[in-house]
Amino acid sequence: MLKSLAVGLALGAALATSPAMAQGDVKTGETVARTWCSPCHNTNGRGASDVVPSFGYLAAERSERELRAFLTNPHGAMPNIQLSRQQIEDVISYMETLK
Ligand code: HEC
Repeated sequence: MLKSLAVGLALGAALATSPAMAQGDVKTGETVARTWCSPCHNTNGRGASDVVPSFGYLAAERSERELRAFLTNPHGAMPNIQLSRQQIEDVISYMETLK
């Protein structure tokens, strides 16, 4: 009983202090992805054209740091899409669910 409590506390502390975890909202991220990204990207799986990487691929092959840095600026033929910091976190959180 006491032992499992200690394990639970340790796990909670480890999760709370993990710095690499995106802080976004998965549901909002999914909406952003469907609205802004899906015209070009496969946003719900791994299948992709040769040119545009799928979100499943990106989740597996890129670190959250890399994604964050990349998404800070517009890319491809999407000059009008500038995501807010929060939207970037949301999209990355959603991507991580596709791993
Ligand atoms: C107009 C088409 C288009 C839209 C819309 C678009 N992308 Fe992309 N995206 C591309 C193309 C083309 C590439 C590959 C070439 C490049 O890296 O610019 C790419 C590459 C990427 C990469 C890969 C960077 C890497 O490390 O290789 C990420 C991450 C990404 N897109 C995220 C997004 C997100 C998130 C959205 C929605 C907010 C989005 N894209 C919307 C066309 C688009």
